[in-house]
Amino acid sequence: VNVRQVHRTGYHFQPTKHWINDPNGPMYYNGVYHLFYQYNPKGAVWGNIVWAHSVSTDLINWKKVEHAIYPSKPFDQYGCWSGSATILPGNKPIILYTGIIDKNNTQVQNYVVPANLSDPYLREWIKPDNNPLIVADQSVNKTSFRDPTTAWLGRDGHWRIVMGSRRKDRGMTHMYRSKDFMHWTKAGHPLHSSAGTGNWECPDFYPVSISGKNGLDTSVMGPNVKHVLKVSLDVTRYEYYTLGSYLAQQDRYVPDKDMVDGWNGLRYDYGNFYASKSFFDPSKNRRILWGWANESDTTDNDVQKNWAGIQLIPRTIVLDPSGKQLLQWPIEEVETLRRNKVELKNQKLAKGEKIEIKGITVAQADVDVTFTFNSLDNAEPFDPSWDRYDAQKLCSQKGSAVQGGLGPFGLLTLASENLEEYTPVFFRVFKDQNKHIVLMCSDASRSSLMDPKTHMKNGNDAYRPSFAGFVNVDLKDKKLSLRSLIDNSVVESFGAGGKTCITSRVYPTLAVYGNAHLYAFNNGTETVNIESLNAWTMSRPLQMNH
Ligand code: FRU
Repeated sequence: VNVRQVHRTGYHFQPTKHWINDPNGPMYYNGVYHLFYQYNPKGAVWGNIVWAHSVSTDLINWKKVEHAIYPSKPFDQYGCWSGSATILPGNKPIILYTGIIDKNNTQVQNYVVPANLSDPYLREWIKPDNNPLIVADQSVNKTSFRDPTTAWLGRDGHWRIVMGSRRKDRGMTHMYRSKDFMHWTKAGHPLHSSAGTGNWECPDFYPVSISGKNGLDTSVMGPNVKHVLKVSLDVTRYEYYTLGSYLAQQDRYVPDKDMVDGWNGLRYDYGNFYASKSFFDPSKNRRILWGWANESDTTDNDVQKNWAGIQLIPRTIVLDPSGKQLLQWPIEEVETLRRNKVELKNQKLAKGEKIEIKGITVAQADVDVTFTFNSLDNAEPFDPSWDRYDAQKLCSQKGSAVQGGLGPFGLLTLASENLEEYTPVFFRVFKDQNKHIVLMCSDASRSSLMDPKTHMKNGNDAYRPSFAGFVNVDLKDKKLSLRSLIDNSVVESFGAGGKTCITSRVYPTLAVYGNAHLYAFNNGTETVNIESLNAWTMSRPLQMNH
């Protein structure tokens, strides 16, 4: 194996070479899942963007087909940027995307339709002559006017879409309406906006069911749903969402009372997860979320490897029973890749103990563990001077090696034999007046022996953040669960059934392939119990995009 390829993933979506970014236009059509994505056909850095296209019947095995959309017309000659698919009545897919029309990055919205609806893979897409469909008027910032959503149908029979945008530093989603999908009129007000949040990229707007676990078609509204508005903020490179109400009469979205727009809001993922998009899968009545993870490696290394970026494992999204956040969980299909199950039951971990999980390929694994403990009394006090919104800072100070009271406990993933390298994913519980605060970390700071000075990213030390989020969980039953999908250079973790999710990209030098180790650990004074731990080797899909 070429030494430069040790960090290629085994079961994540990755083309054989070159740069990828945002997932685009995911949809299910006549038994086939389609994934399009931003792709540079010429190299491992961003540029020359086209829509690459892959198809699947199970979301696991992927077949690459021809690029669906590439610059060819005046309305997209400088780039074919992100967009979404809508299935129109009569079972007719249509894609809206952003075209770049000049060297100044002026953005317009275009559409394409399949050339041949009876081709099961919808390989060829045509750009009708009435493009572009939407051009920015005077009121719109035309270089921040992009990433149209899937359309939803109002009760008045008119379609709506939103694009991400801004007015100075106020982030917003411009809304457009159309009766025929061809002629679009700008609404007098944005669907939603928020001061001081900067440009909004890749908005997503969809309903979730209040009463059940089923996902909903994007046009569903009414008393049994809440709406989600997600935006990607390019200042922090995280994705934030609020839950709220879609006031159909006024055509406005209003976040619920305790929701916050922007930096202090809820995030889909507290790590490397960006420009995601969701779609409704009618074959299994679920909503699926798809996110992109860029590399945390240096651009030089990306170029040497000749690839950059992966799509993360798709997640089903549902509303948490509290109604106050979403729950995300890897799609069930990923479980078909599980091999060689190993199992632990009722194993105590006293302070400073760790147990190695053996018998599987831990560099490419799925681990699901439930920890229990007898008491919350040993939880460390939460210092009132700590920033309640900066979990990452807290994790960087209170790493897995810093002894605590209740926690830190969790997993040491991608660990070398003598722990020169490891990426810990763990919990730490704090006591705060009359409640508890649960911190979840996925800490890349010790993930690689590559010298952080010589291994620089954009002129800074290597990017090895101590990603972290708080977990809004009731500890009444004295239990915390953790699932991690480990795949060579990525660790995707789901705390407390998907309440808090964190993705890290890491580049170990020793802990690769068969030399990687996996441990469950506890570094708190309170003994924790592994109630159950199930772990599997994850096999490679038979067909991955070649
Ligand atoms: C988000 C983004 C989008 C844009 C695309 C260009 O990562 O910047 O706003 O459409 O990537 O590749």
